[in-house]
Amino acid sequence: MPRPIPAIAVVGAGLRSSVYAAEAARTGAARIVAVAEPDEERRLRFCEAHGIPAGAAFSDWRDLLDQPRLADAIIIGTQDRMHVEPAVAAAAKGYHILLEKPIAPSAAEAAEVVHAAERNGVMLAVCHVMRYSSYTQAVIRLIRDGAIGRVVDIQHLEQIGWWHFAHSFVRGNWSQEESSTSMLLAKACHDVDWVSYVMGAIPRRVSSFGSLTHFRESEKPKDASDRCWDCPISPTCPYSAKRLYLGCLGDPDKEFWPLSAVTTDATPAGVERALRNGPYGRCVYSADNDVVDNQIVSMEFADGATASITVTAFAALEHRKTRIFGTRGSIEGDGVRLRVHDFASDTMTEITVTGNDDASMAGGHGGADAALAQAFFEAVRENDPSRLLTDGQGSLATHGVVWAAEHARRTGTVVTID
Ligand SMILES: NC(=O)c1ccc[n+]([C@@H]2O[C@H](COP(=O)([O-])OP(=O)(O)OC[C@H]3O[C@@H](n4cnc5c(N)ncnc54)[C@H](O)[C@@H]3O)[C@@H](O)[C@H]2O)c1
Repeated sequence: MPRPIPAIAVVGAGLRSSVYAAEAARTGAARIVAVAEPDEERRLRFCEAHGIPAGAAFSDWRDLLDQPRLADAIIIGTQDRMHVEPAVAAAAKGYHILLEKPIAPSAAEAAEVVHAAERNGVMLAVCHVMRYSSYTQAVIRLIRDGAIGRVVDIQHLEQIGWWHFAHSFVRGNWSQEESSTSMLLAKACHDVDWVSYVMGAIPRRVSSFGSLTHFRESEKPKDASDRCWDCPISPTCPYSAKRLYLGCLGDPDKEFWPLSAVTTDATPAGVERALRNGPYGRCVYSADNDVVDNQIVSMEFADGATASITVTAFAALEHRKTRIFGTRGSIEGDGVRLRVHDFASDTMTEITVTGNDDASMAGGHGGADAALAQAFFEAVRENDPSRLLTDGQGSLATHGVVWAAEHARRTGTVVTID
């Protein structure tokens, strides 16, 4: 007998939850049956999209979680500092949880979430989407099959993209550590998790360097205004909000992301209003951002292998690029294609995986978002945590590497991880 399609509740009907919910609707692998979202326009649109009755729509997660359990699982897609309370409450109600990263800004809060899930016997899937892409799975297969011998070093580059960085980390939700978290946790918890996954281990020691090098008042060009709309240098500024957001109009993917974070009025007048008055129209050199724009992390593993991660604003928004050096060969990957060099035969094999070239959220992170959502829905339907590629403890461990790296950066030390 096929098992019933799982019912899912959603906390925070923002960009991320909408992606996972749309995947449920597209595939029929899950039914979205309840939502909590304070923004009325978003809530109504979400209810309409998923046929959620008014009685199952709430303006706050507390109201949803005050009800008897309404679904088998819950998607928690609130902002970074609003994960812990709903996750702990949802675990206590017996919901399996798909939780956006980071679990929480601090180790103590993140442990509280993981322990709540364990105590209540529910699955906790943290949205480390990169693990689920067919590209990553091809890398894992090659390494586990011994194609390049023992991995000795990984060079990994996360190119956030100059305009994406300006959108999210200078003008947007992740620009200030106090209201979100460090750039490394917000963005590169994926990369630290990915490298640990590929290595099959947590590093033993880490160091890190990085700072806010560019998006600061001291770098502001002469003649630049505090807002982009009327700025005389906007036509030649790489970070012009005017160019970026007007350029999204007419492209449904870009109107979803990044534009829907800026305005719900996807017209030239709507964009102008948002940029004249809202946070996304500020000059990147006069915003109130404080997170770093460039950072490197170095890692050493127990067997002596090493890895380095570069996370930078100053690049095109593309898939991560990785080189993996092994004792019998090496792999060079660009997120879609893998070039595998076998030393013994001195031959090169090229593998192209399924997925797409769009590394951005608008492109579903190259297919990874959809793969994660499907794995979670299947895990819930089959009550089978093995469908998930990491669990609460696994995510907590790789978040721990991020906190250690941040500590190393701030203190100028090498940090040993227990
Ligand atoms: N896994 C990834 O690759 C990835 C990518 C981008 C963002 N994220 C993470 O996803 C999370 C959400 O990001 P987003 O861009 O979707 O944010 P968003 O701001 O679009 O969505 C958050 C939603 O939560 C709602 N909300 C606020 N208070 C609430 C409450 N009391 N009850 C219920 N809902 C409430 C907001 O109104 C908003 O609609 C963040 O933690 C972010 O870091 C993950």
